[in-house]
Amino acid sequence: MQRARRPAPARASENARHCNGTTERPDTSRPDGYNRISMKIIVTGGAGFIGSCFVRLALGNPSLEIVNIDKLTYAGNLENLESVANHPRYRFVRADICDLEGLRRIFAEVKPDCVVHFAAESHVDRSIFAPQPVFETNLRGTFNMLETMRAHRVERFIHVSTDEVYGSLEEPLEADEQFPLQPSSPYSAGKAGSDLLALSYHKTYKLPVIVTRASNNYGPFQFPEKLIPLMITHAFDGKPLPIYGDGMQIRDWLYVEDHCQAILKIVEKGRDGEIYNIGGNRSLPNKTVVEQILAITGKPSSLIEYVADRPGHDRRYALSSEKLQRETGWSPRMDFERGLKSTVDWYRTNLEWIAHVRSGEYQKYHDQNYANRNQELGAVVSEPRP
Ligand code: NAD
Ligand code: TYD
Repeated sequence: MQRARRPAPARASENARHCNGTTERPDTSRPDGYNRISMKIIVTGGAGFIGSCFVRLALGNPSLEIVNIDKLTYAGNLENLESVANHPRYRFVRADICDLEGLRRIFAEVKPDCVVHFAAESHVDRSIFAPQPVFETNLRGTFNMLETMRAHRVERFIHVSTDEVYGSLEEPLEADEQFPLQPSSPYSAGKAGSDLLALSYHKTYKLPVIVTRASNNYGPFQFPEKLIPLMITHAFDGKPLPIYGDGMQIRDWLYVEDHCQAILKIVEKGRDGEIYNIGGNRSLPNKTVVEQILAITGKPSSLIEYVADRPGHDRRYALSSEKLQRETGWSPRMDFERGLKSTVDWYRTNLEWIAHVRSGEYQKYHDQNYANRNQELGAVVSEPRP
């Protein structure tokens, strides 16, 4: 693999320092915004939905090398990275972030300049049925990443998190980065815990940690357990589109490539120890999103089926990305209607990808959450006390 090293970094705790190892501002006269010096980034969870988009996007910048560490859980899929699999500045390492010794070996060999940590159990519904994997990966796995970083100092550690840590917000509130954390699900509680742990490693050990909190992502390659791809694939099949509760829960939709562009901006310009919200600036009730999918796919609204609500379901997420926009100049580019249409087109032309990811384990989860929803949810929310 091609290997170009940067000069020795300045002190790891220095706030004004940039990930390319200099204290100067990056050369923004270059179209990619980076100096000519190469940066080696370890990405965790790069075979998932957002991580794979980040890998594909980052490789478009000739000064970046990517090493992708992924366990390949049900959500990890190397087909997402087929277009870059043989790229000279890309390498895949199958590993579990819960294996601390394994991580240490990888870091000792790779010697990254920067880490972007996506790997997580990312689905709220699964976290309700089975919270343990969330604890293992989102908390213990993040702890292992941070411990590894203490031994193998990097210049930047981006911990990718979510707006769900702020919990449900009443109108007209919007969460800024100081908003209290009030997570509702094992997933969001796990993310909130890992955010705090990561920030504590900045305060205590001066690790160059940045936490990002993005709103709901959508786009190509999203595993069809999340709202938008689930509804698209059900609409294709003429199957019922299951809306939880009354469908008036509000999410702020962010196109996945806009999210990854924001992370690249933060790698370049973010400040250590800071939190950055990343919102799509497009808040919609779930019901409206589903209706738009039906309109694009040309399917009737009679396919909509209202089903039992998710336990602990957050009513409304809303966040301000003013800080990110002010400090980096980033703003979301993709208009939701255009993004949704191109996402539907992507799924329509990738039926084989859908078939592969729905084989195996997917059906078991799908039956648990949909076919036997009332019994399965009834069982988990009223577990007998010991
Ligand atoms: P995803 O479920 O599509 O992908 C997760 C990836 O992590 C998979 O490739 C999986 O194999 C890998 N992984 C899981 N456990 C692992 C382990 N123990 N070791 C190594 N790899 C492991 O998730 P996503 O939607 O791409 O989300 C990525 C990150 O972004 C997560 O941290 C999530 O919390 C955050 N996020 C997601 C959204 C969203 O809308 N999807 C919004 C905001 C933030
Ligand atoms: P989801 O994509 O799981 O993301 P999150 O829970 O992280 O926001 O769900 C988005 C919204 O859509 C959420 O309010 C739950 C709702 N939803 C349904 O109504 N039906 C479904 O089948 C799914 C998967 C989600």
